[in-house]
Amino acid sequence: RVKKSVLTFRNAKQKNERLTMLTAYDYSTAKLIDASGIDSVLVGDSLGMVMLGYEDTLSVTMEDMIHHTKAVSRGVKDALVVSDLPFMSYQTSVYDAVTNAGRLIKEGRAQAVKLEGGIEVCPQIKAIVEASIPVMAHLGLTPQSVNAFGGFKVQGKDEEAARSLIEQAKAVEAAGAFAVVLECIPAKLAELITQSISIPTIGIGAGNGCDGQVLVYQDMLGLYSDFTPKFVKRYAEIGPQMEKAIEKYISEVKSGAFPAAEHTFALSDAVIEKLY
Ligand code: KIV
Ligand code: NA
Repeated sequence: RVKKSVLTFRNAKQKNERLTMLTAYDYSTAKLIDASGIDSVLVGDSLGMVMLGYEDTLSVTMEDMIHHTKAVSRGVKDALVVSDLPFMSYQTSVYDAVTNAGRLIKEGRAQAVKLEGGIEVCPQIKAIVEASIPVMAHLGLTPQSVNAFGGFKVQGKDEEAARSLIEQAKAVEAAGAFAVVLECIPAKLAELITQSISIPTIGIGAGNGCDGQVLVYQDMLGLYSDFTPKFVKRYAEIGPQMEKAIEKYISEVKSGAFPAAEHTFALSDAVIEKLY
C-alpha cells in the first residue's frame, strides 16, 4: 500500500472513486482503522463528546487536539491524518488560525487540518494553505455553531440556505481547501454542491452523491449510546459485546475461574520446598 495524501483526494475525484474516512482518537483504534485500508483518519473535535463526555464540541482545547492527534499519528502508517481545529482556535484571527494549524502539524504530526465555516473563514483557509498546510473545509451542520443554529439541525433546507451553501462551497474551494465535509444537508443539495466544485466532498448525513463518506467510529461500531443520528449505520454492536465480555470477566474473578493455570507463572518445586 502507498501513503495517502492530498493527491489521493484530488485523483479520486478525477477518477470518480469514492473516498473513505473515519474518526480515531487513540493509537490502538487508529492502527486498526489504518490497517483496514481507510483513505483518511480524522481526529475530530467530536472527541469532546465521544471520548470526553461533553454535550457538544465547544469545550475542546488545542491541548486536547494535540494530545489525541499525537496518539493517532503514531498508529497510522498509510492513511491521511486530518486534525480538527477546535472552537476559538481559528475564528479569532488569521494569526491564531495559522499558529494553531501549525501546532496540529508540528506537535500532533497530522498531515492536514479541518476547520468549520465558509466565506467568513476564507482568509484563514488561504493563510493556512499559504503556510503549506492542507485544509479541509466543513459546511452544513457545523457543530461549533450549535448555539447560533439553536441546536443540531439539518441545514440548507430552504432555497436561500441551499444557494448560500453552494456559494460557500465555491468560496472554500477558491480559498484553497483540498476537500470539504458536508454535514447534515439534504442529499440533492450535497449532490449539486459535489457537481459544482472540483475538490472532493466528504459527506456525513449528506447522502450518496458525495465523493466520499465520513463517520464517527463509535457511532458505526455501536460504541456510543448517548444518541444515534439518523444518518448513522451501525455496522456492528461492539458496545454490547464489550459489556458481555466484561460481565464474564467479573463473574470468573468472583468464582475463581480466572486466572487459570495457563495465565499463571510457575515457581520451581525446589524453590517452593525451601520457602515452605
Ligand atoms: O469531529 C468530527 O468527528 C467531524 C466529522 C463528523 C466530520 O468533524
Ligand atoms: Na469536527
